[in-house]
Amino acid sequence: MSDQVHIFDTTLRDGEQSPGCSMTTPEKLRVARHLVEMGVDVIEAGFPIASEGDFEAVRAVCREHPGAYLAALARAVPIDIERAAQSLDGHARPRIHCFIATSEIHLRYKFNKSQEQVLEEAVEGVELARRYVDDVEFSAEDATRTEIDYLCRVCEAAVDAGASVVNIPDTVGFMTPDDYAEKIARVVEAVGDRAEISVHTHDDLGLAVANSIAALHAGARQIECALNGIGERAGNCSLEEVVAIMMVRRDRVPYHCGIDATKLYAASQALSECITFGPQPNKAIVGRNAFAHEAGIHQDGYLKHRTTYEIMTPDSVGVPGSQLILGKHSGRHALHQRVEQLGYGDLGRDDLRTVYEAFTRQADTRKGLTDDDIVVLLDSLGFEPVGEAVASTA
Ligand code: KIV
Ligand code: ZN
Repeated sequence: MSDQVHIFDTTLRDGEQSPGCSMTTPEKLRVARHLVEMGVDVIEAGFPIASEGDFEAVRAVCREHPGAYLAALARAVPIDIERAAQSLDGHARPRIHCFIATSEIHLRYKFNKSQEQVLEEAVEGVELARRYVDDVEFSAEDATRTEIDYLCRVCEAAVDAGASVVNIPDTVGFMTPDDYAEKIARVVEAVGDRAEISVHTHDDLGLAVANSIAALHAGARQIECALNGIGERAGNCSLEEVVAIMMVRRDRVPYHCGIDATKLYAASQALSECITFGPQPNKAIVGRNAFAHEAGIHQDGYLKHRTTYEIMTPDSVGVPGSQLILGKHSGRHALHQRVEQLGYGDLGRDDLRTVYEAFTRQADTRKGLTDDDIVVLLDSLGFEPVGEAVASTA
């Protein structure tokens, strides 16, 4: 089996449909530019039946990126599939992503339909989509709470009907890595090499990324993910995290994807500017604190050798630099370095002790000191700059 993993980005669809994340067409175009530039394999540009705006956004992404593989979502019903087909009309690399729920819970409470009825609708949906495009992805919504023999049967039928990608969504984020891997292995066995198996995980238990990685070991070769991990409820699998895992832990996760990881941070920032929130500060890879060190022991180790406390360089994921945060946990080494960066020269031992004591008194009562706070402190102690300040990344 190939070690190539396809990255299917759903920032503009699952991500966009979550609270605080709706985007206008120009905003979607801005994010799409970053996705294309970093090299994602497929961009799910929207759910065209959802609104006129979503339809227009898919059309606009098609116009601006004629060479990209672009997907549009559709329920397995003619009206959705026809709208998705229209939104992709004329595009060179269109994919219709057709889904229907398969779990007993959804069948009973959402549809009031039998398994056979749903299987038939799945097949009809895929067949109809194939009349418009060659590339059809089928998703069994709530697959992970679907009885496994039935799930395999639906997936096989979707492949027989013409789907070339079969997606097994953990729609409600219920999976653990071992459980998900077992289910994926069963579907891989059923479908064989007739279709690519895709995974789509939600983070309700904080396991979306771990589950997607476990699924690769079980034979999945497409990961559906979103920038900053945005998506329904607790979000989707985070794109930047899966890419970084494949880069940093090649020994344990020996798969390749075509993403240029140095573009991750800029894409994350652009998305944050288009929606109402950014990644939480301690978010892996792209959060404000992902490369920030405050504890004195860590700062000291970091200044001796970066690898003591960092497993990847900030520039490998496009982050401008590491930061040593000056707060009550910081040590002398970091303060010494910052004073120098602020243009006050290389303080001698006694001067450094004076500054450090004044600094810790202030830091004890604050959440951290900014560069301006340090300058005020140095001035108050009678120190004067001897040179220009330089940027204070570590
Ligand atoms: O979570 C989910 O099941 C989905 C499908 C539409 C793929 O987003
Ligand atoms: Zn989803």
